[in-house]
Amino acid sequence: MYSRNLNDYIDRVLITKEQISEEVARLGRQISKDYEGKDLMLVGVLKGGSVFMSDLIRTITIPLELDFISVSSYGASTKSSGVVRLIKDVDKAVAGKDVLIVEDIVDTGLTLSYIKKMFKNRNPESVKICTAFDKPSRRKVDIVPEYKGLEIPDEYVVGYGLDYDGLLRNIPDLCVLKREIYEK
Ligand code: IMP
Ligand code: MG
Repeated sequence: MYSRNLNDYIDRVLITKEQISEEVARLGRQISKDYEGKDLMLVGVLKGGSVFMSDLIRTITIPLELDFISVSSYGASTKSSGVVRLIKDVDKAVAGKDVLIVEDIVDTGLTLSYIKKMFKNRNPESVKICTAFDKPSRRKVDIVPEYKGLEIPDEYVVGYGLDYDGLLRNIPDLCVLKREIYEK
């Protein structure tokens, strides 16, 4: 059974929804400028990237196409397995498009390096990465997102699309998960 309150899972708020919203607006302005006159195709990574995606597109002021992919994630663990499996692909061809991958967080970087490679093999005009959050201290592969919101320390975070065992994506702020939850 789930706990009754979202607060039972949370140690503390790390980044408020107001701070997130400012960052998203900044990224949206930058993307609108950089991609003017290009065939922008945003590819969200389900499910974590969906909350960020829905906020981000409404701050972008140029035409864009929207699509989603789904890859295997952590499951009930808080550690990356390093194994990435494509579960759902985009619906339309990406050849000639300027692809911008929209992700919730870059941690080890294994997921995004796999995704980026996959899209680069499909003859796009360009492939770049836009992430809401970044944990650079945990990187295992050399991947630098071209667009990023906020850097965070090495803590397991939930909310704003990020989950623990499928839960907590609906919390509007970015929060640190209570240790006792994943150590039990
Ligand atoms: P990476 O392959 O290690 O970069 O991890 C990528 C994926 O792991 C992200 O897209 C998230 O879905 C998940 N992830 C990484 N860190 C966290 C976290 O702190 N909370 C929730 N999910 C996370
Ligand atoms: Mg993810």
